[in-house]
Order: sequence, then structure tokens, then C-alpha cells
Amino acid sequence: MKLITVVGARPQFIKASVVSMALAHVCDEVIVHTGQHYDRNMSDVFFEELKIPKPAYHLGVGSGTHGKQTGEMLIKIEEVLQKETPDALLVYGDTNSTLAGALAAAKLHIPVLHVEAGLRSFNRRMPEELNRVLTDHISDLLFCPTQTAVQNLKNEGITAGVQNSGDVMLDSVLHFSKLAGENPEKTAIFQKLGIQPKQYRLATLHRAETTDGGLPAVERIFRAFERLPQKVVIPIHPRTRSLAESAIAQCGFRNIQLIDPVGYLEMLLLTSNACQVLTDSGGLQKEAWFLEIPCVTLRSETEWVETLAGNWNVLSALETDEIYDKAVNTKVDPAARSQMPFGDGNASGKIAAALLQMGENVK
Ligand code: UD1
Ligand code: UDP
Repeated sequence: MKLITVVGARPQFIKASVVSMALAHVCDEVIVHTGQHYDRNMSDVFFEELKIPKPAYHLGVGSGTHGKQTGEMLIKIEEVLQKETPDALLVYGDTNSTLAGALAAAKLHIPVLHVEAGLRSFNRRMPEELNRVLTDHISDLLFCPTQTAVQNLKNEGITAGVQNSGDVMLDSVLHFSKLAGENPEKTAIFQKLGIQPKQYRLATLHRAETTDGGLPAVERIFRAFERLPQKVVIPIHPRTRSLAESAIAQCGFRNIQLIDPVGYLEMLLLTSNACQVLTDSGGLQKEAWFLEIPCVTLRSETEWVETLAGNWNVLSALETDEIYDKAVNTKVDPAARSQMPFGDGNASGKIAAALLQMGENVK
């Protein structure tokens, strides 16, 4: 069975790393990289460090408005699909690369497999929400990370092909945390940054809702960070870099340490050793939860509602006082972690098993 996997953005490389390992024995996987993320530390570093098979096609689409970026991907993915005639196409998550891959395949009657199906923020102003809803509605096999995601699909009338596989990001965290801890080149990150375990907070910012607020929004967030008793380390996403640099230059913040985006192994080390995570990232909220690090999510809603139990994750509007208050005054309840809503860490194995079954049927 021939499977085309379309990836393009950082979190998709991380998800693909574990799934591709599991798929190696069950199908011929052809990886297509749309080029949505292209800086070395947003793309190549993940392929190298996580040993993801090299993409057979690199479409080089790059940045652009939603229409231009998605449209160019659609044209180029269609060409690949016509040439390769795969039995199925697999996409991850909710980026423009996800939607373009799914749409190109569905129009050619190629079965679409969606990993991380069924997530909803119920905020249609988020580009990701549109990508998820549209992708789910044209997918044939939908691998949900949680029971909530299964229910969300049911509420939209989608039940065929739906499976609660568990969350592939849990597989990634379990698999790569150990490797990260054993790698002296990676553990040197603390010394390199001049930070001590549990003496810093870790933050990331890249959502459109954050950056659309421009400099004032970033300043409001940074004013809260400035007041926190520990330094805030921020591997800064390229989307937010210039706003973050301007905020620091204009306001002279001294408690914020901006660094370049790091590879996944260093990121796992930074997360597991932080005393708190503050983020608008979907993936990082969950990694904080997996690694039992309290998190403040800098958004007004989350798709990962399970993480909110016992205040392990709390939401905050992008207002200085609220962020500060939530960051210093939230107490977590360890008893709230007795449930494991994200599966058993073998989501990739379940996806591979479903593919094997599908392969039997297309023989
Ligand atoms: C995208 C996804 C988002 C996901 C995020 C993961 C969409 C609509 N958004 O957001 O769901 O959470 O990836 O990180 O698909 N840039 C660079 N170098 C790069 C990549 C981006 O400089 O390698 C800059 C460009 O100025 C670009 C901007 O970042 O315009 C935004 O990149 P884009 O891929 O459009 O969106 P993300 O914010 O990365
Ligand atoms: N990440 C990383 N290096 C960084 C910042 C994030 O490896 O400098 C990882 C992070 O650990 C998580 C994923 O990137 O696995 C999250 O990606 P991002 O926040 O860009 O997107 P989202 O998850 O919000 O879609």
C-alpha cells in the first residue's frame, strides 16, 4: 500500500516522527513537505534530530496569505498525487498544509486519513478551526486523540471511520524525553542559556490572535512576564520575533530571555525543567500536562479541555494583571491527574494497525 503523508509545519514534523516509525513496517510512505515552515530551526532540525525519513517532495511553498499559501499547496500537492497515485493520504492537525493535503486528495477520490481529528475551539475566527472542521468533513479515517474529540465529531454527524487512537504527541514525548535526557549535547542547553532547572518559566507565542494585537498585545503579555519572580525564557517563533524584539527595546524588559527556536529534544528538556509554562501553543499546553508542569494558556479557549482539570492548565486573557495573577496564584490539584484522557502512548501503533487493515482491503 502506498501512502502519501503531507506535512509542512513544526508540530507536524514532531507528530510524523513517531507515526512514520510505526508505519515503516505496514506501508510505503512517501513524505511531501509543503515548505510552510522553512527556517532551519523550524524544519530541517526536526528531520535530522528525530530521524524522520527525508521528504520525497519538497514543494517550497513558503509564507503568504492564507489563500495564496493554501492555493499554491493545493496545486502542487495535486500534481504529486496525480504522479504517485497513492492508495491514501495522511495529514496531521490543523494547519494550512493539513487542509491543502486533505482537499487535494478528496477531490481526486483518494481516501484521507486525519490524525488529531475532532478537536474544536468553537471559535471560527481561528484559521486552525476552519482547517480542522473542513478536513474532518472530508476525511475517511479520523484518528481522535481523546474521547472529547470523538464526541465533537459525533455532534457534527461524523461517526464513520472515527477511532479514539490516543494522542500521538504523548508517543513523541515518551519516546524522545528519554533520548533528550541522555544526550549531553542537548542537556548543555541549561548552561548555554545560563539557567537552572526549576528556576525559570518557559513561554512561547505565535498564534494569530496574539500577534494580530500587534505591539500593544505583546507588551501587555511581557509586562506580566517582567513582574514574575523567575526569568521567562522564550524560544521565539519567527512570526512573533520582531514584535517581541520591539517590545523589549521599547520597554527595557530585563526578566525576559528571547532565544531562537530550539529543536524538539532541547524543547522537551526546557519544558520538563521549567517551573511553569506560559503559551498560546496547542502542542506545548499538552506537553506541559504530560510532563506535569503547570501551564497558563494565553488564550480565551482551548481545544485541550482535559488539561484544565485541577488547574494544571488555566486560561488567561491577554491582560497583564490576569496573566500575572494566574501565573503566581494558581494552585494545582495533583488528584485531578488520575485520569489519562490522551491514551496509552501507543497512538502511532493504533494508526499503523488501521493502515495495515486498510492495506489488506486495497490488495
Ligand atoms: C502555523 C499554523 C498554526 C501552527 C503553527 C505551528 C496555519 C494557518 N497556522 O502558524 O496552526 O500552530 O504553524 O508553528 O497553518 N516564518 C518564518 N520562517 C518559517 C516559518 C514562518 O519566518 O520557517 C514567518 C513568516 O513571516 C510567516 C509567519 O512566520 O509569514 C507565519 O508562518 P505561517 O506558517 O503562515 O503560520 P504560523 O504562525 O507558523
Ligand atoms: N517546539 C520546539 N521548539 C521550539 C518551540 C516549540 O520543538 O522552539 C515544539 C513544542 O515542544 C511542540 C511543538 O513545537 O511539540 C508545538 O509547535 P507550535 O507551538 O509551533 O504549534 P502548535 O502546537 O500550537 O500548533
